Amino acid sequence: MSGIFYRQTGAYAREPMAERTLIIIKPDGVQRHMMGEIISRFERKGFKLAAAKFLQVSEATARRHYAVHEGKPFFEGVVKYLASSPVLAMVWEADGVIDMARKMMGATFGYNAEPGTIRGDFSCSRGYNLIHGSDSPESAAYEIPLYFADEELVNYGLVDADWLYGKND
Ligand code: RTP
Ligand code: MG
Repeated sequence: MSGIFYRQTGAYAREPMAERTLIIIKPDGVQRHMMGEIISRFERKGFKLAAAKFLQVSEATARRHYAVHEGKPFFEGVVKYLASSPVLAMVWEADGVIDMARKMMGATFGYNAEPGTIRGDFSCSRGYNLIHGSDSPESAAYEIPLYFADEELVNYGLVDADWLYGKND
């Protein structure tokens, strides 16, 4: 087997070296009963769940989360939005998960997100957008520890990994 680097995961099949992303179902996603729909899309895609936590984000954490946007006109608004009601924070894992999840989420607002994407299918807002996803490995490395301690990220193998991540070489 060549081309892709595999790691052994206990008794289970080989899985590609995984990347992790922070996904948050935002306050409107929780209040609009969208948690199951959104989790189901990632689960069916073949991502592996590494951690999940339902929590009320503090304003301080929301500020740290969106620190990259500090000074922009929407900064105070997005901090208030993220801290306005509970959220479901999750870490999902797969080779290339960051880009795949961003494609599945769609453009920032449902108003112009493509149909077929989470934001495009379930939102027409120009302010709220149901979901957050890390936009780069650097963002994921910064964002995940805001919500999860190292020991909360669960390492395990998927029994169908060979089918999920199969290659023809
Ligand atoms: P996210 O970080 O939440 O995954 O969203 P994103 O990458 O698609 O968008 P980003 O540019 O990072 O913006 C972060 C969040 O700020 C709010 N926002 N409001 N013009 C506006 O009113 C505006 N622009 C951005 C959104 O909640 C966006 O998700
Ligand atoms: Mg962003």
